[in-house]
Amino acid sequence: MRGDKFTKRAMEEGYLARSIFKIRNIQNRYHVIKKGNYVLDLGAAPGSWSQYVLEMGAHVDAVDVFKVKYGNWIKTDVLEDSIFDILERKYDVVLSDLAPRTTGIKHLDVERSIGLSQRALEIAKAKLKKRGNFVCKVFQGEDFKLFFEEMKENFIVVRSMRPMATRKRSREIYLIGLGKK
Ligand SMILES: C[S@@+](CC[C@H](N)C(=O)[O-])C[C@H]1O[C@@H](n2cnc3c(N)ncnc32)[C@H](O)[C@@H]1O
Repeated sequence: MRGDKFTKRAMEEGYLARSIFKIRNIQNRYHVIKKGNYVLDLGAAPGSWSQYVLEMGAHVDAVDVFKVKYGNWIKTDVLEDSIFDILERKYDVVLSDLAPRTTGIKHLDVERSIGLSQRALEIAKAKLKKRGNFVCKVFQGEDFKLFFEEMKENFIVVRSMRPMATRKRSREIYLIGLGKK
């Protein structure tokens, strides 16, 4: 929905997208990002999360097929195998706000959304430093419990949060993995 109160506020505060309020909400509660951290932002376009990461005094590699205006844009599809070689370093924090372009065909959209969360977790497993933090958008459907269990296997603490700016009808939630094992 264009022009809702979060979109207006984002524009007034000089951010590219209303999603800024989600990461800010998560950061205020869990302090996932610290000054000087190396952060990987998956599904970063147009770039409000990356913009926020830079404001925190951290570095950001911003992955998306579309142009990301802030940080170091890595133009690639996360589903390509090459992603593991393209990302050369390890990160203190991995963020994923990946979302498929919706088709309107419900089961297909849900399936793609789950696939992207699983991919983000795979990338986090490979590219996060030990004790690193992970934030991942997840669709709350049948596979949610399994995904949550896998998060618990990989992180010391796992929390879930539905930030204020999440649209009412949306079934998305964010999982926060603190301290990679
Ligand atoms: C909700 S938007 C992210 C908004 C962003 N956090 C911000 O604050 O500006 C989701 C993004 O995921 C990206 N995306 C979806 N599938 C992708 C894929 N397979 N590889 C790379 N990016 C993908 C989309 O292009 C889109 O830009």
